[in-house]
Amino acid sequence: MRVLVTGGAGYIGSTVARQLVETGDDVIVLDNLSQGHRAAVPDDAAFVHGDLNDRGLIDRTLAEHRPEAIMHFASHTLVGESMEEPFLYLDENVRCGMNLMKSAVEHDVDRFILSSTANLFGTPERIPIDEDVTVDPGSPYGESKFILERTLHWLDETEDLSYAALRYFNAAGAAGPNQGEDHAPETHLIPIVLEVALGQRDKIVIFGDDYDTPDGTCVRDYVHVLDLAQAHVLALNALDDGSRVYNLGNGKGYSVREVIETARRVTGHEIPAEEGAPRPGDPPVLIASSDKIREELGWAPEHSALDDIIGSAWEWHRRHPNGYDGLQ
Ligand code: UFG
Repeated sequence: MRVLVTGGAGYIGSTVARQLVETGDDVIVLDNLSQGHRAAVPDDAAFVHGDLNDRGLIDRTLAEHRPEAIMHFASHTLVGESMEEPFLYLDENVRCGMNLMKSAVEHDVDRFILSSTANLFGTPERIPIDEDVTVDPGSPYGESKFILERTLHWLDETEDLSYAALRYFNAAGAAGPNQGEDHAPETHLIPIVLEVALGQRDKIVIFGDDYDTPDGTCVRDYVHVLDLAQAHVLALNALDDGSRVYNLGNGKGYSVREVIETARRVTGHEIPAEEGAPRPGDPPVLIASSDKIREELGWAPEHSALDDIIGSAWEWHRRHPNGYDGLQ
Protein backbone atom coordinates (compact mmCIF):
# COMPACT_ATOMS: atom_id res chain seq x y z
CA MET A 1 0.00 0.00 0.00
CA ARG A 2 1.10 3.62 -0.52
CA VAL A 3 0.97 5.35 2.85
CA LEU A 4 1.45 9.03 3.70
CA VAL A 5 2.95 9.38 7.18
CA THR A 6 2.70 12.90 8.66
CA GLY A 7 5.22 13.42 11.42
CA GLY A 8 7.21 10.52 9.99
CA ALA A 9 10.48 12.13 11.10
CA GLY A 10 9.34 12.09 14.74
CA TYR A 11 9.82 9.52 17.45
CA ILE A 12 6.76 7.33 16.89
CA GLY A 13 6.06 8.29 13.26
CA SER A 14 9.54 7.36 12.07
CA THR A 15 9.34 4.01 13.85
CA VAL A 16 6.04 3.23 12.15
CA ALA A 17 7.37 4.48 8.78
CA ARG A 18 10.28 2.06 9.10
CA GLN A 19 8.02 -0.89 9.89
CA LEU A 20 5.83 -0.05 6.90
CA VAL A 21 8.88 0.08 4.62
CA GLU A 22 10.05 -3.25 6.05
CA THR A 23 6.68 -4.86 5.39
CA GLY A 24 6.80 -3.73 1.74
CA ASP A 25 4.62 -0.61 1.78
CA ASP A 26 5.53 2.56 -0.14
CA VAL A 27 5.95 5.36 2.35
CA ILE A 28 5.82 9.12 1.88
CA VAL A 29 6.87 11.10 4.95
CA LEU A 30 5.53 14.65 5.38
CA ASP A 31 7.19 16.53 8.24
CA ASN A 32 8.04 20.16 9.05
CA LEU A 33 11.07 19.01 11.10
CA SER A 34 10.04 21.23 14.02
CA GLN A 35 10.41 18.23 16.32
CA GLY A 36 11.39 15.50 13.89
CA HIS A 37 14.79 14.71 12.38
CA ARG A 38 15.59 14.13 8.73
CA ALA A 39 18.00 11.37 9.75
CA ALA A 40 15.16 9.46 11.40
CA VAL A 41 13.26 9.08 8.11
CA PRO A 42 13.88 5.64 6.57
CA ASP A 43 16.10 5.75 3.47
CA ASP A 44 13.50 4.06 1.31
CA ALA A 45 10.73 6.56 2.10
CA ALA A 46 10.00 9.63 -0.01
CA PHE A 47 10.36 12.83 2.03
CA VAL A 48 8.31 16.02 1.76
CA HIS A 49 9.48 18.90 3.95
CA GLY A 50 6.34 20.84 4.73
CA ASP A 51 3.74 21.97 7.18
CA LEU A 52 0.12 20.93 7.63
CA ASN A 53 -0.86 24.58 8.01
CA ASP A 54 -0.26 24.72 4.24
CA ARG A 55 -3.35 23.20 2.64
CA GLY A 56 -1.88 23.70 -0.86
CA LEU A 57 1.17 21.65 0.03
CA ILE A 58 -1.00 18.82 1.36
CA ASP A 59 -3.07 18.84 -1.84
CA ARG A 60 0.03 18.82 -4.04
CA THR A 61 1.53 15.96 -2.01
CA LEU A 62 -1.62 13.86 -2.31
CA ALA A 63 -1.95 14.62 -6.02
CA GLU A 64 1.67 13.68 -6.71
CA HIS A 65 2.02 10.57 -4.52
CA ARG A 66 -1.59 9.27 -4.59
CA PRO A 67 -1.45 7.54 -1.18
CA GLU A 68 -4.09 4.92 -0.36
CA ALA A 69 -3.85 5.59 3.35
CA ILE A 70 -2.78 8.35 5.72
CA MET A 71 -1.22 7.94 9.14
CA HIS A 72 -1.30 11.20 11.07
CA PHE A 73 1.35 11.70 13.77
CA ALA A 74 2.37 15.33 13.20
CA SER A 75 1.17 17.19 16.27
CA HIS A 76 2.05 19.09 19.39
CA THR A 77 1.99 16.32 21.98
CA LEU A 78 2.71 17.67 25.44
CA VAL A 79 0.09 17.63 28.18
CA GLY A 80 1.95 20.22 30.29
CA GLU A 81 2.56 22.60 27.38
CA SER A 82 -1.09 22.41 26.39
CA MET A 83 -2.10 23.67 29.85
CA GLU A 84 0.08 26.74 29.27
CA GLU A 85 -0.55 27.30 25.57
CA PRO A 86 -4.03 25.91 24.87
CA PHE A 87 -4.35 27.46 21.40
CA LEU A 88 -1.33 25.56 20.09
CA TYR A 89 -3.55 22.54 20.61
CA LEU A 90 -7.18 23.64 20.33
CA ASP A 91 -6.37 25.80 17.32
CA GLU A 92 -3.23 24.53 15.55
CA ASN A 93 -3.44 20.79 16.25
CA VAL A 94 -7.09 20.80 15.30
CA ARG A 95 -6.64 23.03 12.23
CA CYS A 96 -3.75 20.98 10.86
CA GLY A 97 -5.68 17.75 11.37
CA MET A 98 -8.71 19.27 9.65
CA ASN A 99 -6.58 20.46 6.71
CA LEU A 100 -5.29 16.93 6.28
CA MET A 101 -8.75 15.38 6.52
CA LYS A 102 -10.27 17.84 4.06
CA SER A 103 -7.53 17.04 1.57
CA ALA A 104 -7.95 13.31 2.21
CA VAL A 105 -11.65 13.55 1.35
CA GLU A 106 -11.00 15.66 -1.76
CA HIS A 107 -8.36 13.24 -3.02
CA ASP A 108 -10.38 10.11 -2.19
CA VAL A 109 -7.99 8.75 0.41
CA ASP A 110 -10.36 6.57 2.41
CA ARG A 111 -8.10 5.00 5.04
CA PHE A 112 -6.89 7.11 7.96
CA ILE A 113 -5.02 6.25 11.14
CA LEU A 114 -4.91 8.84 13.90
CA SER A 115 -2.30 8.92 16.60
CA SER A 116 -4.45 9.57 19.68
CA THR A 117 -3.84 9.55 23.40
CA ALA A 118 -4.72 8.21 26.85
CA ASN A 119 -5.12 11.84 27.89
CA LEU A 120 -8.62 11.55 26.41
CA PHE A 121 -9.67 9.90 29.66
CA GLY A 122 -8.53 12.70 31.97
CA THR A 123 -8.68 11.30 35.47
CA PRO A 124 -10.48 8.06 34.56
CA GLU A 125 -13.43 6.62 36.45
CA ARG A 126 -11.84 3.17 36.55
CA ILE A 127 -8.54 1.37 35.98
CA PRO A 128 -7.55 -0.37 33.74
CA ILE A 129 -8.92 1.93 31.07
CA ASP A 130 -10.82 0.13 28.34
CA GLU A 131 -12.47 1.79 25.35
CA ASP A 132 -15.79 2.13 27.22
CA VAL A 133 -14.41 4.40 29.93
CA THR A 134 -15.97 7.87 29.66
CA VAL A 135 -14.00 10.29 27.52
CA ASP A 136 -13.35 13.50 29.47
CA PRO A 137 -10.05 14.94 28.22
CA GLY A 138 -7.55 15.93 30.86
CA SER A 139 -5.99 18.80 28.91
CA PRO A 140 -6.29 20.87 25.73
CA TYR A 141 -3.96 18.30 24.19
CA GLY A 142 -6.37 15.42 24.88
CA GLU A 143 -9.29 17.57 23.76
CA SER A 144 -7.60 18.34 20.44
CA LYS A 145 -7.18 14.63 19.75
CA PHE A 146 -10.77 13.92 20.71
CA ILE A 147 -12.04 16.57 18.27
CA LEU A 148 -10.05 14.84 15.51
CA GLU A 149 -11.38 11.42 16.54
CA ARG A 150 -14.95 12.73 16.35
CA THR A 151 -14.30 14.33 12.99
CA LEU A 152 -13.14 10.96 11.69
CA HIS A 153 -16.26 9.35 13.11
CA TRP A 154 -18.40 11.75 11.06
CA LEU A 155 -16.27 11.30 7.94
CA ASP A 156 -16.87 7.58 8.27
CA GLU A 157 -20.64 8.31 8.34
CA THR A 158 -20.67 10.88 5.55
CA GLU A 159 -17.71 10.09 3.28
CA ASP A 160 -17.17 6.36 3.70
CA LEU A 161 -13.72 6.92 5.18
CA SER A 162 -12.45 4.08 7.41
CA TYR A 163 -10.31 5.10 10.35
CA ALA A 164 -8.51 3.77 13.35
CA ALA A 165 -7.86 5.97 16.39
CA LEU A 166 -5.01 4.52 18.41
CA ARG A 167 -4.86 5.90 21.92
CA TYR A 168 -1.34 5.49 23.20
CA PHE A 169 -0.49 5.36 26.82
CA ASN A 170 3.18 6.27 27.46
CA ALA A 171 5.29 5.57 24.38
CA ALA A 172 8.82 4.70 25.45
CA GLY A 173 11.95 2.75 24.50
CA ALA A 174 14.09 2.97 21.39
CA ALA A 175 13.41 1.22 18.09
CA GLY A 176 17.11 0.36 17.80
CA PRO A 177 20.56 1.50 18.89
CA ASN A 178 20.52 4.18 16.16
CA GLN A 179 16.86 5.21 16.35
CA GLY A 180 15.26 6.68 19.43
CA GLU A 181 13.64 9.56 21.25
CA ASP A 182 15.12 13.04 20.70
CA HIS A 183 12.93 16.01 21.66
CA ALA A 184 14.04 19.59 22.20
CA PRO A 185 13.27 20.49 24.89
CA GLU A 186 12.92 17.02 26.39
CA THR A 187 10.05 16.75 28.90
CA HIS A 188 9.44 12.99 29.09
CA LEU A 189 10.36 11.04 32.17
CA ILE A 190 12.49 8.20 30.77
CA PRO A 191 14.76 10.27 28.48
CA ILE A 192 15.25 12.86 31.23
CA VAL A 193 16.20 10.17 33.74
CA LEU A 194 18.70 8.79 31.21
CA GLU A 195 20.13 12.27 30.62
CA VAL A 196 20.78 12.42 34.37
CA ALA A 197 22.50 9.01 34.11
CA LEU A 198 24.67 10.39 31.30
CA GLY A 199 25.62 13.42 33.38
CA GLN A 200 23.81 15.83 31.06
CA ARG A 201 21.55 16.96 33.94
CA ASP A 202 22.16 17.10 37.69
CA LYS A 203 18.98 15.42 38.87
CA ILE A 204 15.45 14.33 38.07
CA VAL A 205 12.67 16.33 39.72
CA ILE A 206 9.69 14.14 40.66
CA PHE A 207 6.52 16.05 39.82
CA GLY A 208 4.44 15.43 42.94
CA ASP A 209 4.82 12.77 45.65
CA ASP A 210 1.45 13.14 47.35
CA TYR A 211 -0.82 11.48 44.78
CA ASP A 212 -3.23 8.75 45.85
CA THR A 213 -0.90 5.99 44.58
CA PRO A 214 1.14 3.33 46.43
CA ASP A 215 4.30 5.47 46.68
CA GLY A 216 2.68 8.89 46.15
CA THR A 217 4.09 9.41 42.64
CA CYS A 218 2.18 9.15 39.35
CA VAL A 219 1.68 5.73 37.76
CA ARG A 220 1.90 5.30 33.98
CA ASP A 221 1.65 2.43 31.49
CA TYR A 222 4.87 2.48 29.42
CA VAL A 223 4.57 0.79 26.03
CA HIS A 224 7.50 0.12 23.71
CA VAL A 225 7.53 2.16 20.52
CA LEU A 226 8.14 -1.00 18.43
CA ASP A 227 4.98 -2.56 19.88
CA LEU A 228 3.04 0.62 19.10
CA ALA A 229 4.34 0.50 15.54
CA GLN A 230 3.20 -3.09 15.19
CA ALA A 231 -0.31 -2.04 16.24
CA HIS A 232 -0.40 0.52 13.41
CA VAL A 233 0.47 -2.08 10.82
CA LEU A 234 -2.25 -4.40 12.14
CA ALA A 235 -4.80 -1.58 12.26
CA LEU A 236 -4.02 -0.48 8.71
CA ASN A 237 -4.60 -3.99 7.40
CA ALA A 238 -7.90 -4.25 9.29
CA LEU A 239 -9.44 -1.01 7.98
CA ASP A 240 -11.20 -2.75 5.10
CA ASP A 241 -13.37 -4.40 7.77
CA GLY A 242 -14.39 -1.04 9.22
CA SER A 243 -13.35 1.74 11.56
CA ARG A 244 -12.08 1.08 15.05
CA VAL A 245 -10.78 2.67 18.21
CA TYR A 246 -8.18 1.01 20.43
CA ASN A 247 -6.34 1.73 23.66
CA LEU A 248 -2.68 0.76 23.46
CA GLY A 249 -0.73 -0.07 26.58
CA ASN A 250 0.80 -3.01 28.43
CA GLY A 251 -1.81 -3.13 31.16
CA LYS A 252 0.81 -2.64 33.86
CA GLY A 253 1.61 0.60 35.66
CA TYR A 254 4.91 1.86 37.07
CA SER A 255 5.33 4.82 39.37
CA VAL A 256 7.80 7.61 38.72
CA ARG A 257 9.93 6.24 41.57
CA GLU A 258 9.85 2.73 40.05
CA VAL A 259 11.01 4.11 36.71
CA ILE A 260 13.91 5.89 38.40
CA GLU A 261 14.84 2.75 40.38
CA THR A 262 14.75 0.61 37.22
CA ALA A 263 16.91 3.14 35.38
CA ARG A 264 19.43 3.08 38.23
CA ARG A 265 19.64 -0.71 37.95
CA VAL A 266 19.79 -0.79 34.13
CA THR A 267 22.39 1.99 33.77
CA GLY A 268 24.43 1.39 36.91
CA HIS A 269 24.31 5.13 37.63
CA GLU A 270 23.13 6.79 40.81
CA ILE A 271 20.57 9.20 39.20
CA PRO A 272 19.90 11.78 41.94
CA ALA A 273 16.20 12.57 42.41
CA GLU A 274 14.34 15.30 44.27
CA GLU A 275 10.64 15.84 45.02
CA GLY A 276 8.99 18.87 43.39
CA ALA A 277 5.53 20.32 42.79
CA PRO A 278 2.92 18.39 40.78
CA ARG A 279 2.63 19.29 37.08
CA PRO A 280 -0.79 20.73 36.13
CA GLY A 281 -2.87 18.34 34.05
CA ASP A 282 -1.15 15.14 35.26
CA PRO A 283 -3.66 12.45 36.31
CA PRO A 284 -2.45 10.16 39.16
CA VAL A 285 -2.85 6.80 37.38
CA LEU A 286 -3.15 5.78 33.71
CA ILE A 287 -3.13 2.07 32.95
CA ALA A 288 -4.61 0.62 29.76
CA SER A 289 -6.73 -2.35 29.04
CA SER A 290 -5.74 -3.38 25.51
CA ASP A 291 -7.86 -6.53 25.47
CA LYS A 292 -9.84 -5.25 22.48
CA ILE A 293 -6.93 -4.95 20.05
CA ARG A 294 -5.37 -8.14 21.41
CA GLU A 295 -8.59 -10.05 20.75
CA GLU A 296 -9.63 -8.42 17.48
CA LEU A 297 -6.25 -8.04 15.76
CA GLY A 298 -3.99 -10.38 17.71
CA TRP A 299 -1.73 -7.55 18.92
CA ALA A 300 0.87 -9.04 21.22
CA PRO A 301 3.45 -6.62 22.66
CA GLU A 302 6.89 -8.22 22.58
CA HIS A 303 8.84 -5.70 24.64
CA SER A 304 6.62 -5.13 27.64
CA ALA A 305 9.20 -5.49 30.44
CA LEU A 306 10.20 -2.10 31.86
CA ASP A 307 13.84 -3.27 31.94
CA ASP A 308 13.71 -3.87 28.17
CA ILE A 309 12.01 -0.55 27.50
CA ILE A 310 14.52 1.43 29.55
CA GLY A 311 17.40 -0.79 28.40
CA SER A 312 16.72 -0.07 24.72
CA ALA A 313 16.37 3.67 25.42
CA TRP A 314 19.62 3.60 27.39
CA GLU A 315 21.46 1.96 24.48
CA TRP A 316 20.27 4.74 22.14
CA HIS A 317 21.09 7.57 24.59
CA ARG A 318 24.48 6.11 25.47
CA ARG A 319 25.50 5.76 21.83
CA HIS A 320 23.97 9.07 20.75
CA PRO A 321 24.19 11.49 23.67
CA ASN A 322 23.33 14.33 21.28
CA GLY A 323 20.46 12.45 19.64
CA TYR A 324 20.24 12.73 15.87
CA ASP A 325 22.85 15.53 15.73
CA GLY A 326 25.65 14.19 13.59
CA LEU A 327 23.61 11.27 12.22
CA GLN A 328 23.02 11.33 8.47
N1 UFG B 1 7.61 13.31 35.35
C1 UFG B 1 8.38 13.71 36.45
N2 UFG B 1 9.49 14.47 36.19
C2 UFG B 1 9.86 14.86 34.94
C3 UFG B 1 9.08 14.43 33.85
C4 UFG B 1 7.95 13.66 34.10
O1 UFG B 1 8.08 13.39 37.59
O2 UFG B 1 10.88 15.56 34.81
C5 UFG B 1 6.42 12.48 35.60
C6 UFG B 1 5.13 13.13 35.11
O3 UFG B 1 4.60 13.98 36.10
C7 UFG B 1 4.26 11.91 34.82
C8 UFG B 1 5.26 10.83 34.41
O4 UFG B 1 6.54 11.29 34.86
O5 UFG B 1 3.63 11.51 35.99
C9 UFG B 1 5.33 10.63 32.91
O6 UFG B 1 5.48 11.92 32.32
P1 UFG B 1 5.84 12.11 30.77
O7 UFG B 1 6.04 13.58 30.58
O8 UFG B 1 6.94 11.20 30.39
O9 UFG B 1 4.55 11.59 30.05
P2 UFG B 1 3.01 12.03 30.22
O10 UFG B 1 2.34 10.93 31.02
O11 UFG B 1 2.86 13.41 30.74
O12 UFG B 1 2.48 12.09 28.73
C10 UFG B 1 2.73 11.07 27.78
C11 UFG B 1 2.77 11.72 26.40
C12 UFG B 1 1.41 12.29 26.06
C13 UFG B 1 0.33 11.25 26.28
C14 UFG B 1 0.43 10.61 27.64
C15 UFG B 1 -0.59 9.49 27.73
O13 UFG B 1 3.73 12.78 26.36
O14 UFG B 1 1.42 12.70 24.72
O15 UFG B 1 1.73 10.11 27.85
O16 UFG B 1 -0.49 8.80 28.92
F1 UFG B 1 -0.88 11.87 26.19
